[in-house]
Amino acid sequence: MTGKLKIWVSRPLFPDVLARLAEHFDVDAEAIERKHSPEQVREKLLGVDAALLGLADRVNAQTLEGNERLRVVANLGVGYNNLDMPALTRGGVLACNTPDVLNESVADYAWALMLAAARRVGAAERWLRAGQWSGGMRFDDWLGVDVHGKTLGILGMGRIGQAIARRATGFDMPVIYHNRSRLPEAVERESRAVYVDKASLLRQSDHLILVLPYSRESHHAVGAAELGLMKRSAVLVNVARGGIVDDAALAVALRERRLAAAALDVFEGEPAVHPDLLDLDNVVLSPHIASASEDTRRAMAGLAADNVLAALGFGPRAGRPPT
Ligand code: DGY
Repeated sequence: MTGKLKIWVSRPLFPDVLARLAEHFDVDAEAIERKHSPEQVREKLLGVDAALLGLADRVNAQTLEGNERLRVVANLGVGYNNLDMPALTRGGVLACNTPDVLNESVADYAWALMLAAARRVGAAERWLRAGQWSGGMRFDDWLGVDVHGKTLGILGMGRIGQAIARRATGFDMPVIYHNRSRLPEAVERESRAVYVDKASLLRQSDHLILVLPYSRESHHAVGAAELGLMKRSAVLVNVARGGIVDDAALAVALRERRLAAAALDVFEGEPAVHPDLLDLDNVVLSPHIASASEDTRRAMAGLAADNVLAALGFGPRAGRPPT
């Protein structure tokens, strides 16, 4: 027994960040990426004062049962739908996340997915690698849909949505958005984004990017009925959370060409992907990596560690409220 506080780090993390934590904690860090069962999460949390968690690790009444030691959980991400906030509050456990540091990288990736889906980048690359570009190519083959000059729709207009909107200028795209509450006029002006109701957003968008947080209310916010309102030539991008799109309904719409293409970085029940999606060529599938640039993942890890240290009274931000 060293007398140090203990921390569980549920995902492999940059060694320098672990070393910084080790100045103040006994660190139990996972060396390989793996999914933990609720029972494993409960066991781990029982033995620690703090936890630095991946978004797949759920903390709720069940995983906090009998825990009188845990004081802080820090999520490695901005989303916190893996945390049952009322249960944490009841248990006196502080919860932190990593807002803002990932806005621009996630916005970049949303654009990458939109462009890739619209211009069929993934399918074309698979075709080329399979050695099929051998006997020339028809002039009217591989036709995608344009991005420039088209209407960009954004559902969920927080900071990431606004960063996505700002990038539309160079593509000459008018931007429309829907959000639970309308943005202040100055922010709308800066984002060059016009507020519309949800049905108008679905009907008018040529490219629709989803960036809203997951909640009971946003579950299947885009399902069969919503997909039915969209243009047949439209492209749908989900960089928000699995469960916001009804993946089964999306697969039907894509197969029947009632929607031109889609790109998904997140899935209901990930890492499982709905099998119908795997069979389709007009969807780009990506393993929840929208924030995964070197700089951003380092910033997220650093901020999550700062949050834990500040919450427990260590480090330069001690005493300042964590994010
Ligand atoms: C988040 O932070 O919520 C993102 O999904 C991580 O990539």
